[in-house]
Amino acid sequence: MSKKNSRRQFLKAGIAVSTGLAASNAVADDDPLITQKQTWNQELGSGVDERPYGMPSPFEVDVKRRSVPWLTADPVSSINFTPLHELDGIITPNGLCFERHHGGVAEYDPSYHRLMINGLVDKELVFTMEDIMRFPRENRTYFLECAANSGMEWRGSQLNGCQFTHGMIHNVMYTGVPLRSLLEEAGIKSNGKWLLAEGADASGMTRSIPMEKALDDCLVAFKMNGESLRPEQGYPLRLVVPGWEGNMWIKWLRRIEVGDQPWHHREETSKYTDLLEDGRARRFTWVMDAKSVITNPSPQAPILHSKGPTILSGVAWSGRGTIPRVDVTIDGGKNWNMARMSGPSFDKSMHRFYYEFDWNGSDLLVQSRAHDSTGYVQPTKDELRSIRGENSIYHNNGIQTWHINAKGVAENVEIS
Ligand code: MTE
Ligand code: CO
Repeated sequence: MSKKNSRRQFLKAGIAVSTGLAASNAVADDDPLITQKQTWNQELGSGVDERPYGMPSPFEVDVKRRSVPWLTADPVSSINFTPLHELDGIITPNGLCFERHHGGVAEYDPSYHRLMINGLVDKELVFTMEDIMRFPRENRTYFLECAANSGMEWRGSQLNGCQFTHGMIHNVMYTGVPLRSLLEEAGIKSNGKWLLAEGADASGMTRSIPMEKALDDCLVAFKMNGESLRPEQGYPLRLVVPGWEGNMWIKWLRRIEVGDQPWHHREETSKYTDLLEDGRARRFTWVMDAKSVITNPSPQAPILHSKGPTILSGVAWSGRGTIPRVDVTIDGGKNWNMARMSGPSFDKSMHRFYYEFDWNGSDLLVQSRAHDSTGYVQPTKDELRSIRGENSIYHNNGIQTWHINAKGVAENVEIS
């Protein structure tokens, strides 16, 4: 039997079992998966020497990063998206973390990597990776969200799938050295109030970061989810700027200059500022406000069963703290219900929520609304537009609506 066939049979069996559950837990006595022998229990499987680095089951090939052709003018300065609808828990597997790079992925031998600290310091320093590994390190889990996540949805619903509307985010446990330790080693002069972080890739990306943030919780990270950073995530070294927009998390981090004022480079002027209705723009809008999205059901993940017990699941996060509470509605906001949070609740990390309900089989309008530990409540898209107008791209944390029809098919819609 080919792998394809066995999967189809398995899916069929899955449906049989789930309707069985809803009825009386009866087991079909003609189910070939129970009554017949299968190839995989008659032949030996592959041995331990065949997977020096393990990969997902071939049946999981659809669980992958995807890009949007009309958003990809050139793949070396573009974006792909995390398949949020295929994931559970709070950790994004390394191979599925969305990628955003402006000059392609720089790949080089880590023994050639250098990190320089210069500018308003007592002692200008250059670190090798080995030097960095000798500083005391920490493990912390944070989300990274691109400021442009959901940006295409400012003027109305557009992309059909939470992978595309919300997938410019990943949530990873980093191992790294507090930036503060490296800065203290160099000694910051009293007028050193800002940093310029610079990448070693072809885009040579730079961002200004205020000293208070650098000394607070920033990390210089070399591991993600236990293993070395992936090349696309900035191997061998990236800056982690917890809760702040992804653009500041400089990958392939090669230089930190200490200065007395921000540099006003490209990524903090013509980009990553928020254009308002009257033509003025807000700058330095670094923090990612509380946001949530229902990942299942969603346009790429319809409800496959008929009415009855149904699980709704999603993720929520805030750049200002934790998420103690998420509300869920299945009737477009007429009634709100408290979701069940499950899994660890870390500061500036993704949180997982569930809402279990008995679906009556009719149309649904599902939404989630995050509350963060400061008391801030995720706004509607209309509330955002009433203050920011319709010109923005960045920092869209508005409430997302999916319409689910009686067949379980989900679509991106907006209701007001
Ligand atoms: N750092 C460098 N050196 N070059 C880049 O192109 N892209 C930035 C940021 N850091 C970028 C960079 C942007 S816009 C984002 S959203 C994040 O990296 C994306 O991180 P990821 O590729 O791990 O998802
Ligand atoms: Co970005």
